[in-house]
Amino acid sequence: MDYKEYIRVIPDFPQPGISFKDITTLLKNGEMYREAINDLKKLVADLKIDVIAGPEARGFVVGAPLAYALGVGFAPIRKSGKLPGETIEVGYDLEYGKDTLAMHTDAIVKDQNVLIADDLLATGGTIATSVNLVRQLGGNVVGAAFLIELEELNGRAKLPDIDVFTLVTYS
Ligand code: PRP
Repeated sequence: MDYKEYIRVIPDFPQPGISFKDITTLLKNGEMYREAINDLKKLVADLKIDVIAGPEARGFVVGAPLAYALGVGFAPIRKSGKLPGETIEVGYDLEYGKDTLAMHTDAIVKDQNVLIADDLLATGGTIATSVNLVRQLGGNVVGAAFLIELEELNGRAKLPDIDVFTLVTYS
């Protein structure tokens, strides 16, 4: 399936020079959304996964349905100040800007196998931070799955010891 037909590219958003990959045009198509999640499920079929962790907000629309499809739990990774319980936090640089991600300290049980899922691998900062959080909680990161990879930003370089699975690559 050529998912690129369903992903809208918007130039100069949110800043000049950024070519934004808008997945809302894929998500609103029920058949394509389901097919994309099913294809991601096939890509990670050989992994042993206990929990999927996904960073807000777009990581939720990939990670949560994938967790549901696999019959495993979902642990949200949120921006600072959003989670109500005890958290750990890690700061990071984005392709455009800076932020802090947090997880509940009880989101992962030590030695659980965790797949991290998000819509997009760009610079890799978000996922490297997510890996850091999951590992601090004692989780074993078994891979990272994305709808989209922006190859020229070389996010994989920040994830040298992680198996990366992507459906669509922009070079
Ligand atoms: C976007 C995207 C990824 C991340 C990728 O999220 O959904 O999580 O950036 O960039 P990186 O690989 O350079 O870290 P964003 O922080 O814009 O938040 P959103 O999902 O709430 O829009």
